[in-house]
Amino acid sequence: MTRYEQTKINLQAEPKTWLVTGVAGFIGSNLLEHLLKLNQTVIGLDNFATGHQYNLDEVQGLVTAEQWAKFTFIEGDIRNYQDCETALTGNVDYVLHQAALGSVPRSIADPLTTNAANITGFLNMLQAAKEANVKSFTYAASSSTYGDHPALPKVEENIGNPLSPYAVTKYVNELYAGVYARTYGFKTIGLRYFNVFGQRQDPNGAYAAVIPKWTAAMIKCEDVYINGDGETSRDFCFIENTVQMNILAATASEGAKDEVYNVAVGDRTTLNELYAAINDTLQKLNYNTSNKAKYLDFRVGDVRHSQANITKAKEKLGYSPDFKIKDGIEIAVDWYCKASNAR
Ligand SMILES: NC(=O)c1ccc[n+]([C@@H]2O[C@H](COP(=O)([O-])OP(=O)(O)OC[C@H]3O[C@@H](n4cnc5c(N)ncnc54)[C@H](O)[C@@H]3O)[C@@H](O)[C@H]2O)c1
Repeated sequence: MTRYEQTKINLQAEPKTWLVTGVAGFIGSNLLEHLLKLNQTVIGLDNFATGHQYNLDEVQGLVTAEQWAKFTFIEGDIRNYQDCETALTGNVDYVLHQAALGSVPRSIADPLTTNAANITGFLNMLQAAKEANVKSFTYAASSSTYGDHPALPKVEENIGNPLSPYAVTKYVNELYAGVYARTYGFKTIGLRYFNVFGQRQDPNGAYAAVIPKWTAAMIKCEDVYINGDGETSRDFCFIENTVQMNILAATASEGAKDEVYNVAVGDRTTLNELYAAINDTLQKLNYNTSNKAKYLDFRVGDVRHSQANITKAKEKLGYSPDFKIKDGIEIAVDWYCKASNAR
């Protein structure tokens, strides 16, 4: 039995109370769904900056009425310390801190707002969680912290210079986390996500991630734009693997804390390959996707290649990413097709 399977059994036998920040967003709402299905009590905090009520509504439809009754939503802002304190008043065991403003281009266009949510907001949550004596604090770090370091695959200890304001904010999170461990003995776990994708990832807006954006465009027979020559590569990680890492991190032993871990699959897919994979999946679902992709200039702040070494997560947390990119694309694309028919 994997550590993940055993942990899920333990959680069902002895349910815990979780705080998920950014709960109305993509990753947060998927964490909520999984935790409620495990009969956990969940408090969710979000200010709907980029999250949506319809993500919460969808989760409500996927769980039982008893499970949904174990969820409390607080509309609040992590930039406000009192909101963080309020979210932690209900004897929270585990914090999964996901709230932040994502997107490299957004941070280049508006570094101040990104800084406030991602650094001030992070520090507020970290401090409030320490004061509340929670059992664990797991936070969304980012592969952008590898910056201009050329080595592939990426190993946790070798990072370069950040290439965007967003990358700075995520690196500062790690620095604060380290200081809280050394200064106060409050040990956390940072999860360096590598291009997570899956159901409920927002396809709309200027800062949408590539998989939802392209899929939504292809469903509507609109043009798809590839930044650069399409040979830029990423280690795309399906949401189920990311949920697994959060649950493993939250319940990790003390020896696995005060660390950061790569969250990925360990594979590398180019944008051209990704386009072909989405196209194939849509054709299998009988969509007409005859438009060819169009190529644009490379985007400022983008890293050329990204691929994770996931040995540390496997060895110290028992991580076993069950979903390869192809499995995830099939599930995610199917979901986008159904969502586009429903909305
Ligand atoms: N999706 C990825 O590929 C990826 C990669 C690396 C890191 N991350 C990190 O993972 C986390 C979740 O990302 P996501 O993809 O689910 O994005 P998302 O935008 O769907 O979710 C973020 C959520 O945080 C909320 N939020 C933002 N600012 C807030 C504030 N001031 N107060 C309260 N709530 C606030 C938003 O409303 C949203 O619901 C973020 O920290 C992001 O930086 C994501």
